[in-house]
Amino acid sequence: MIELRVPGDKSISHRAILIGSLASDASLIRGLSDGVDVRRSIAVMRALGARIDTEPEPNGGLTARIGAGAGLEGPGAPLDCGNSGTTARLVAGILAGLGLEATLDGDASLRARPMRRVTYPLQAMGAAISAEDEPDRLPLRFGRRVSGSLRTLRHRPRIASAQVKSALLLAGLTGTTRVEITEPALSRDHTERMLRAMRAPIEFDPERRGGGSIRIDPEGWDGRLRGLDLTVPGDPSSAAFLIGAALLARRELRIAGVLANTGRIAFLEVLSEMGVAIERARASQPEAGEPVETWTLRPPARLRSFAIAGDRVPRLIDEIPLLCVLATRAEGRSEVRGAGELRAKESDRIRAIVENVRRLGGVAEERDDGLTIHGSDDSPAGVVRTFGDHRIAMAFGVLGAAGANGLEVDDRGAA
Ligand code: S3P
Repeated sequence: MIELRVPGDKSISHRAILIGSLASDASLIRGLSDGVDVRRSIAVMRALGARIDTEPEPNGGLTARIGAGAGLEGPGAPLDCGNSGTTARLVAGILAGLGLEATLDGDASLRARPMRRVTYPLQAMGAAISAEDEPDRLPLRFGRRVSGSLRTLRHRPRIASAQVKSALLLAGLTGTTRVEITEPALSRDHTERMLRAMRAPIEFDPERRGGGSIRIDPEGWDGRLRGLDLTVPGDPSSAAFLIGAALLARRELRIAGVLANTGRIAFLEVLSEMGVAIERARASQPEAGEPVETWTLRPPARLRSFAIAGDRVPRLIDEIPLLCVLATRAEGRSEVRGAGELRAKESDRIRAIVENVRRLGGVAEERDDGLTIHGSDDSPAGVVRTFGDHRIAMAFGVLGAAGANGLEVDDRGAA
């Protein structure tokens, strides 16, 4: 049995830095992800005036201390979000809410990703946002709000996106304006849970399994966001890659301290449909309102194919590349539908998966909103093209880790 832990969850790490920087009290965050994306969130919040100290932990994570109640201000230079969509979208909400003058920018891949999903509702609230180059793409300029407050927002996004939802909730919170969002399906609710743990005026149903409404209503609120004191649970999306490698190598695996938020772990349902035996044990203490678990997984003699569609997609969106890689080694034909959002990630992940399966000698078909993959026993061989996307690099890297000798990755830096 392989036993391990994984680095702190990336989504929660971003939120701990961004929302912790808004708190009236000091925050202490242990086990923060030390990835480049989270470092972008730290740099951006520092540029806005947050006092954030970090120190490395022996296990590779970071401990961060955030000073109490820094009044944030517009920065002199553009805010560089690097490759991080979560930083760009959530910070857009904060800039709009606080009415700060700033330019939000990112690398070439982030500049190509859609921002209209956040700028449109923020503009409807009265935020002054304009695109410097192409409409609805970074760099975006946020104008200073000289007087008045934002307008109340009731929004029904077409897609279930935690980044959009979080941006709007943070705009409502920092702009002390009522915001209500009704999402079509459940997306990760870390922002809601963290805000509730910090005593923000938020209403939502943490037990829900489908879409629903979330409300920020600052009327009558004392305006005091409590500080955070938390250890970031392990990242289930990182765990997924190690699980994939263990399954392909036919090894049993136990992972302790993993975040078990319903909005993140639908890939376990798919693995179980593929024949994997999974035991889940709940840790006694939730962290910032998030459930934490230990998982034990045992591979089947032969993985079975799967079908993914509908409401489940947002709850496993980041794990689809890995599941598709497992599908190349499974029995039968696997299918993903209703996942057009994959085309708006760090790369067009539908195209990237199909191209790489074919490059390695497998069979896959591309559809507008998904793909099909045919399982095979032939050893994959060829050069994987990462498209600069870490999840593509990691997912196909799993085949190499599980012993495929003829496999190379064109850009190891992407992982
Ligand atoms: C994230 C939300 C998801 C996910 C991304 C991280 C977050 O994006 O793909 O990796 O931390 O809120 P969308 O909300 O755009 O679906």
